[in-house]
Amino acid sequence: MFKNTQDNQRLEDELDKNNIPDHVAIIMDGNGRWAQKRHLPRIAGHKRGMETVKTITKVASDLGVKVLTLYAFSTENWKRPHDEVSYLMGLPVKFFNDFVPDLIKNNVQVKVMGLIDQLPAQTQKAVNDAIKDTSQCTGMVLNFALNYGSRLDIRMAVQKISQQVADGQLDVDKIDDQTISDNLMTGFLGDLSDPDLLIRTSGEERISNFLLWQIAYSELVFTDVLWPDFDKSVFQKMILEYQHRDRRFGGIKTSK
Ligand code: FPP
Repeated sequence: MFKNTQDNQRLEDELDKNNIPDHVAIIMDGNGRWAQKRHLPRIAGHKRGMETVKTITKVASDLGVKVLTLYAFSTENWKRPHDEVSYLMGLPVKFFNDFVPDLIKNNVQVKVMGLIDQLPAQTQKAVNDAIKDTSQCTGMVLNFALNYGSRLDIRMAVQKISQQVADGQLDVDKIDDQTISDNLMTGFLGDLSDPDLLIRTSGEERISNFLLWQIAYSELVFTDVLWPDFDKSVFQKMILEYQHRDRRFGGIKTSK
């Protein structure tokens, strides 16, 4: 116990407070395996995973992260058994019910990206209420990807841009990277729409249709820790790993 406290303090001291990633995106994986290891139903892992979301939201906000984007439900997750999908659809209701007062206390603003109008009515209501209730908060943006898929995101952006061209509002030659970024679901984040750091838990090392355009220059960090076991110290270690990376954005290293 004492050793843990010492280790945590050392980790805290090692972190460069002036080099915290502005935008952190997380693929929260491993809830099912966490539950299976304990002979519990998969939904027990999702329930515990929701508690991890609360912990990491607070830790990220305290560290000075400006945007935390969490992959909560993908457009492919509908393929899961009906009971599991139905439990996952209930989680935002429970989460926002419990946690909106804390979010407001911590000045955290909720945003959601994905096909929200395809979610069950009570999930939509919980999400829209949370967005409204935290709309005056000016601190970290907690951005849930819910019924989100990056190919869908890109396809919809292409459709929007094509429509602007068809309507004569946009010249084809004027389409640039910024046009595409602006029309993606992260467009509302402006300069912060690309994650600096992308984390995936549970040992899987793939992107699973998440923010494909936006992660062009993100640092990718993977951990074997399952999402329900992810905690403050693992998060700090991931940030430390990010701080040791040499980000060049396709250029060359310049000495400071
Ligand atoms: C992946 O683990 C996790 C999900 C598909 C759901 C993630 C949801 C949460 C962490 C809770 C979200 C909370 C809110 C507030 C919306 P998995 O089930 O694929 O795990 P496995 O690979 O071990 O089976």
